[in-house]
Amino acid sequence: MRTRISFAAYVLPICAAGLAVGLAGCRPLPPSKPESQFTVEEARGAQVYRQKCAKCHYPTTTHPLNGPGLQALTKVKAMPSGAPPTDERMTQVILHGRSMMPATQLTDDQLSDLLAYLHTL
Ligand code: HEC
Repeated sequence: MRTRISFAAYVLPICAAGLAVGLAGCRPLPPSKPESQFTVEEARGAQVYRQKCAKCHYPTTTHPLNGPGLQALTKVKAMPSGAPPTDERMTQVILHGRSMMPATQLTDDQLSDLLAYLHTL
């Protein structure tokens, strides 16, 4: 029994660390959706992104500009802050800002288009 417990205690953190390293960029990220296959909503969202987000975030890499690159944002387990990339959390960050990121004012339509676009990254 004792060996079982210590086995789990050692192996689980190692797995978790491996996963974190994988998410941080060792493993290739899933590909973005090609622009030619965008829905109307996603294409409008891309325009909102160019106007409101592109000056601070690269969409096609995880390298930082003023904020973290957003490639594969919704396909990884956690955003840079550690929060899961759910629509609610992204909406919260976008509308209210977060530390160095300013709040962005968007209409409901712009927001839903933008979220659709963020899912293509
Ligand atoms: C003036 C620069 C700036 C603009 C404009 C900006 N951001 Fe950010 N963003 C940042 C910074 C800086 C951070 C890192 C904040 C932190 O320290 O957690 C960030 C973080 C984020 C995160 C990660 C949140 C997390 O929990 O890790 C997302 C997602 C994001 N921004 C999306 C957007 C979107 C979408 C837009 C356009 C509506 C946008 N940002 C506009 C600077 C900006």
